Amino acid sequence: MTEPGPEQQAEGRFERAAEAAVGGAPSSPAVAIEPAPQTGGEPTKQRSTIFELNGVRVSYGAKPAVRDINFDIYQHRITALIGPSGCGKSTLIRCLNRMNDLIPSARVSGRVMYHGEDLYASKVDPVEVRKRIGMVSACSG
Ligand SMILES: Nc1ncnc2c1ncn2[C@@H]1O[C@H](COP(=O)(O)OP(=O)(O)OP(=O)(O)O)[C@@H](O)[C@H]1O
Ligand SMILES: [Mg+2]
Repeated sequence: MTEPGPEQQAEGRFERAAEAAVGGAPSSPAVAIEPAPQTGGEPTKQRSTIFELNGVRVSYGAKPAVRDINFDIYQHRITALIGPSGCGKSTLIRCLNRMNDLIPSARVSGRVMYHGEDLYASKVDPVEVRKRIGMVSACSG
């Protein structure tokens, strides 16, 4: 038997957690979770980045649901969004495959890069995005 490689060691481990900032909610996370210590695997800067979020904000009408969201999602890492009901987890996840476009009152701003491409660029077909980037929901929320 050989020792598991860095990728295998990293699999199944919660690597990162991000807290959505929510209008009206406390500014500090309800549950503070620090990134897991490095016990192997590549340093962050060498990982393949799938998504890069910069200054993402989503409003429903005039009401902001999430704002000032900045984080990266890496290949072969588990990224968890943890927070109380209504803090904006689903809203933020819907930014990753343009599902918020289907909600008439939703307005998305900021930048969402997918493999280095702006997911919201005018040349990008949102239907194609949703075909390639799936999401599974435990319930309608
Ligand atoms: N379609 C919508 N129209 C208007 N407001 C919405 C809509 N969807 C969500 N919101 C509001 O946006 C905020 C974030 O909701 P969201 O569903 O993203 O939270 P959540 O963290 O996924 O909650 P839960 O843990 O209950 O699934 C809440 O204030 C919610 O009322
Ligand atoms: Mg939800």
